[in-house]
Amino acid sequence: MSGHGAPIPMTSRKGSALRGTANVPGDKSVSHRSLILGALSIGETKISGLLEGQDVLDTARAMSAFGADVTDHGEGNWSVHGVGVGGFAEPDDVIDCGNAGTGVRLIMGAMATCPINATFTGDASLRSRPMNRITVPLQGFGAKSYGRSNGYLPLTMVGARDAMGITYKSPHPSAQIKSAVLLAGLNALGETTLIEESLTRDHSERMLRGFGADIETVETSEGFATTLQGRPELVAQDITVPRDPSSAAFPVCAALIVEGSEVLVPNIGLNPTRNGLFTTLIEMGADITFENEREEGGEPVADLRIKYSDLTGVEVPPERAPTMIDEYPILSVVASFATGKTVMRGVKELRVKECDRIDAMARGLENMGVTIEEGEDFMIVHGQSGDVKGGGTAATHLDHRIAMSFMCMGLATQQPVSIDDGGAIATSFPIFEELMGGLNAHIERKNR
Ligand code: S3P
Repeated sequence: MSGHGAPIPMTSRKGSALRGTANVPGDKSVSHRSLILGALSIGETKISGLLEGQDVLDTARAMSAFGADVTDHGEGNWSVHGVGVGGFAEPDDVIDCGNAGTGVRLIMGAMATCPINATFTGDASLRSRPMNRITVPLQGFGAKSYGRSNGYLPLTMVGARDAMGITYKSPHPSAQIKSAVLLAGLNALGETTLIEESLTRDHSERMLRGFGADIETVETSEGFATTLQGRPELVAQDITVPRDPSSAAFPVCAALIVEGSEVLVPNIGLNPTRNGLFTTLIEMGADITFENEREEGGEPVADLRIKYSDLTGVEVPPERAPTMIDEYPILSVVASFATGKTVMRGVKELRVKECDRIDAMARGLENMGVTIEEGEDFMIVHGQSGDVKGGGTAATHLDHRIAMSFMCMGLATQQPVSIDDGGAIATSFPIFEELMGGLNAHIERKNR
């Protein structure tokens, strides 16, 4: 929901080793998509393990506003009676996507080829994020949009009638752009093709295929081209949402930097378009083992066992960025404890996330006594061989991943680490404090 309650200042401090099992919530990307594709299909889609973070709850509410019948059965079990491809009804109020870039961009794509109008808004963070990257390709289908300058929300989208499929080469490595175009292509005649230079997360493609769409990705001289045949009949599915590797990153990285720790993080989705952090951590010398490797609901899954490790700085290959784009904040924390420097290049997309994440991490880490170099599309962290001062406060700018990264950092610094506001944590990881507390972590709200 847009607007934000009173700030929730928080502090974390060093204590004993982290021990136990961390059952992190469902994957945010898969959760959004299961609600949206459920709403666009015929029949009843049953979802288990849905992430009940605010971002996803806002998408659930939006799908009801577009005419789907969305029911919460408790404990992460939801059902969606869809309206079918092209069947969205016109919402009778503004669609408020809160903090969720994925939510608003995918929903705009899904409605852009339906003959209805809808107005979208979000919180202060979402209202400052670029929407042109979505509205420009959607214009190719004949949709029109009227927003603030630079395409910022609030924005009204006028859906296209009788849209024809398009071919679009994405100028940014973004699964949100890819997914918005493919979802718009569902109700367009003929083929829609999205070309991207590096393969971004492919949950939409996997799930569309599961719902019965004809979709395939081929590698061409221009990049990865994903082609969807328009006007499929999507058939409701049962979906088990894997646990979120981007949320798992927090207990995993905390265990790596807190001496003596050993933590089990079960059932984590290890889709190769998402697992760049784990590859990088292993290159840094992390003791991570993948147990029980299996496939669930079309996604590879494993249980992760993590032990405290002496880490060495590395150079992260820029081409790996799309597979770990949300994990650079917590990687930069881990890098602060490593020996030597960690170089992260090709990361300019970080500047248009829930906040400018390069700036937020650089300023926050400086406040904790860490030396950072940064530029438009790079960040270099000078590791301090396990000995990091802490003792400062980081500004989180309504960004859940910045908040959780600094809360993990304070578990291993000499002095406690504070953040000005942990309220945004609830967007993706509502049980973060409880789960980390269960591993012995000392994370507290101030002024309680
Ligand atoms: C997401 C894609 C990524 C990621 C976001 C979730 C998705 O954004 O940062 O948290 O579910 O498609 P971009 O695709 O814009 O890079």
